[in-house]
Amino acid sequence: MSVFSSWHSTGGSACHTIRPMILEGIVTSLNANGELNIAPMGPIVDESLTWLQLRPFQTSQTFRNLQQRPYGVFHVVDDVLLLAQAAIGKLDSPPETFAAEKIHGRVLASTCRWYEFEIESLDISHDRTEIRTRVVHVGRCRDFFGFNRAKHAVLEAAILATRLHLLSRDEVVRQLSVLRSPVEKTAGPQELEAFELICDHVADVFTLTPDS
Ligand SMILES: Cc1cc2nc3c(=O)[nH]c(=O)nc-3n(C[C@H](O)[C@H](O)[C@H](O)COP(=O)(O)O)c2cc1C
Repeated sequence: MSVFSSWHSTGGSACHTIRPMILEGIVTSLNANGELNIAPMGPIVDESLTWLQLRPFQTSQTFRNLQQRPYGVFHVVDDVLLLAQAAIGKLDSPPETFAAEKIHGRVLASTCRWYEFEIESLDISHDRTEIRTRVVHVGRCRDFFGFNRAKHAVLEAAILATRLHLLSRDEVVRQLSVLRSPVEKTAGPQELEAFELICDHVADVFTLTPDS
């Protein structure tokens, strides 16, 4: 049964729908040479967070790494500058990391929580693969900052920036202008920098592909 299947009880008035969620975060993985890759990913989870269903596209480095080394680390973060930089492949310098506890991997030092995982099964029948993993260790560095509209707007903008090949220029400009409002009202310096980084990246991509 797909984790997105719904189940409705037929007994009495009870009606329960199983609805797993998507948790956006950052996955670190290692290639065959042990080089670190850092990529935002949104696995399907449930509240237990004892498993993650990752869905990397076959074109991603994360997918290639997980095929070669069946383990990695998923991070719950509020560092949207790091997330934005990783999404568009513009990390200035490697961020600070430390060794994972139970797997051969690296943990981002700026994370709030981390989940070390091992792959249980891997379905590569579609471009977007489905990788079922088991969490083997959970760690905590610090509290999550809390709800901040600019952080969420940057998250949305970062997702947008990884889908430019699927969207028209007008649509991207429209969505970014909607997201700019909460950034201008509620951002700190990190969120402002992250949002401008994404806008610059989008402008560069559309300048290079003027017909889109
Ligand atoms: C919040 C967020 C969630 C994402 N989730 C996924 C995902 O589940 N699967 C995927 O293939 N790409 C996802 N992406 C896009 C990848 O991060 C992006 O394509 C990245 O360049 C892949 O990096 P890699 O090739 O180093 O693995 C997501 C991007 C963001 C910003």
